[in-house]
Amino acid sequence: MMHRILILASGNGSLAQALIDAQELDIEIVAIISDQDDAHVLVRAQNAGIHTQVIKVGSSRENWNTEIINAVVALNPDLVVSAGFMRILPPEFVNRFPTINSHPALLPDFPGAHAVRDALTAGVSVTGTTVHWVDDGVDTGPIITQMQVPVLPNDDEVTLHERIKKVERGLIVATIALILPTLERNV
Ligand code: GAR
Repeated sequence: MMHRILILASGNGSLAQALIDAQELDIEIVAIISDQDDAHVLVRAQNAGIHTQVIKVGSSRENWNTEIINAVVALNPDLVVSAGFMRILPPEFVNRFPTINSHPALLPDFPGAHAVRDALTAGVSVTGTTVHWVDDGVDTGPIITQMQVPVLPNDDEVTLHERIKKVERGLIVATIALILPTLERNV
């Protein structure tokens, strides 16, 4: 039986696209949830016939927490994948649903929303990408897989991020393949 996967994404959605295209994964993407109503990932989902839901942060962060938890309960996923989702999930969320995140740096180095810029500023010659379980910290959960990516002399944030994202797309698919057999299945 296919595993039920829920994707959270805020922007372009190239990581989500890699999961949509991954023929080798025995998964059903039950929905893509975004916090941005103009995110290109929503177009990608619609083109693939995948259910979408937009849950914007309004004046109350508490309400958003409740709304997103209720949405995920209703969708009943086996695994939540944060793929370019630029929000911190509340503890009640990550304690309830097994959730992984793809991050564009070699954690624990350069956590947070500007990992590629921070690696460039630090002057490292190697950075990379990490897939990790999400806990209630910021990019602090247990590391599942990592791959290195070189920083080239003329890199700017855009060129380096593009090189990292090519690796990220392969790593997120391979990592999900690794962990699917270990997941409890919701029936
Ligand atoms: C990816 O590089 C992902 O690791 C990063 O946003 C990009 C999303 O690309 N996420 C973070 O920085 C989270 N802290 P995409 O929209 O093309 O999938």
